[in-house]
Amino acid sequence: MAILKVARMGHPVLRAKARPLEAGEIRSPAVQQLIDDMFETMAEYQGVGLAAPQIHESVRLFVAGIPARSRDEQDAEDEDDEDDDMPLIAMINPEITPAGREMAEDWEGCLSIPDIRGRVPRPRSIVVRGYDRKGKRMELKASGFSARVMQHETDHLDGVLFFDRMKSFETLTFLDEFGRYWSRRDVREE
Ligand code: NI
Repeated sequence: MAILKVARMGHPVLRAKARPLEAGEIRSPAVQQLIDDMFETMAEYQGVGLAAPQIHESVRLFVAGIPARSRDEQDAEDEDDEDDDMPLIAMINPEITPAGREMAEDWEGCLSIPDIRGRVPRPRSIVVRGYDRKGKRMELKASGFSARVMQHETDHLDGVLFFDRMKSFETLTFLDEFGRYWSRRDVREE
């Protein structure tokens, strides 16, 4: 396992459209290793999501979720946010369809745009179709926090960053100022 270097905003890989993984490729040792390394990298930087282009691999793959232990810690801190629950997943070639018209706006951060937060409107509920790390088709329904994370990660596969989705930049804030003026709630990067 290895901790990978995270590409920061300005690197062209973050603006490229990533290529799909072929069915036969998913179970290859190289892709399995990449997934393990992405989980390790996400944990190292305490992220809630990480897309392959963020570690300089332009393929349609992301990992996301909160490991059980830090989920408990987080629950102890803010019990009102039951929405924040999300098991660890690896998702390959994801396709997202909004489920309904309702939009929700909430804070986001990105490991490729460190120490910045901003409010981003997104469909509240979605259906995600793709493949798991064994190459098996999977379909998930998600709403709230996990739907937000999966949309943010899938955007990375199309070269889209969360700034692009903001209605205005008035809520863009550095992390220090975020804690001071906007919210006590920790918003993790993805
Ligand atoms: Ni991101």
